[in-house]
Amino acid sequence: MNAELDNIVTSPINDYIIRFEKVYTQSLHSDVKLINTIIRYISRKKGKQLRPRLCLLSAKLCGEPTENTYRAAALIEMIHVATLIHDDVVDDADLRRGWPSVNRVWKNKLSILVGDFMFSKALTNMIHLKDFDALDILSSTAQRLSQGEIQQIEKAIKKNMTEEVYYQMVSDKTASLFSAACKLGVMTVTEDNDKREALAKFGEKFGLVFQIKDDLLDITGNVEGLGKPAGFDLKKNILTLPLIHLFEKLDSSDSKRVKRQLRNHVKKSELKEIRMLIENHGGIQFAEKQIDRLSKEAQDELNIFPDSVYKDALLAALTFNSHRHN
Ligand code: IPE
Ligand code: IPE
Ligand code: MG
Ligand code: MG
Repeated sequence: MNAELDNIVTSPINDYIIRFEKVYTQSLHSDVKLINTIIRYISRKKGKQLRPRLCLLSAKLCGEPTENTYRAAALIEMIHVATLIHDDVVDDADLRRGWPSVNRVWKNKLSILVGDFMFSKALTNMIHLKDFDALDILSSTAQRLSQGEIQQIEKAIKKNMTEEVYYQMVSDKTASLFSAACKLGVMTVTEDNDKREALAKFGEKFGLVFQIKDDLLDITGNVEGLGKPAGFDLKKNILTLPLIHLFEKLDSSDSKRVKRQLRNHVKKSELKEIRMLIENHGGIQFAEKQIDRLSKEAQDELNIFPDSVYKDALLAALTFNSHRHN
């Protein structure tokens, strides 16, 4: 499946990816052996590296990447991986990218500290950009990432959420970083404001559809395919579009029953039943429809750009997201 990503999305920027990886690895080096051991462990499984790819493609769409483009791509990926490490502690997840998660191997204490270490390395890279506007974007992105994660917990406890609040939360916890990845890529190569704004909006919408798809895969996928736990959001009472849709469709007594089941350490058989309910009430199609709608909106943000292999690659990344299995 990642072969698909490699073919269409990555091939126009193969050399740039290699350069990015070098900067990423070098920037994360530490004099502390344990830090290097843990970071080497995480880096063995790279993940999709979608955010740095979007950063490099956005830059290539508008000009020629500079040293700062690679720094930006590297620091965005660092922030992403740091949030994954923290997220697995918060969710008490024991699998990531098909391997035991950092918290599973080294426990919570070290996971939090290594996540913090990666955040501070990202901060160092940010300063090296010597660009006040970029700092502005990244500091507000960092704030929104943690705000979104905390709001998700708040809503999981209360179990009430509207679609509108869901979008705003996903915009904070996921889309903000995608948007920053694209916008920063452009900022490192041109001062053209229209191009910067177009790619910032493309990234924002990409981030939304990316998270909706991730939420969908949690319901439709399995642990082998995903390389991370499936059915986990339901278990952790995280409210996603299919579940929000279900609560809108159920009458109040059924809705109360499902909420009660979720509240009290939901059993395997109950999970299966809730999944069935979601499917039978069209929750999967509902989420897929939103992915189609927002992907189209993202695509339209690129209308100001003439056709090129880089534009094609950005659009292919959107299609890849709609069909991906992990
Ligand atoms: C997972 O991100 C977290 C979400 C925002 C849904 P990715 O799916 O990009 O994770 P990796 O880097 O490919 O493992
Ligand atoms: C993660 O979202 C969002 C972050 C910004 C870390 P998820 O909680 O859905 O990510 P996974 O499913 O654990 O990868
Ligand atoms: Mg998680
Ligand atoms: Mg998820």
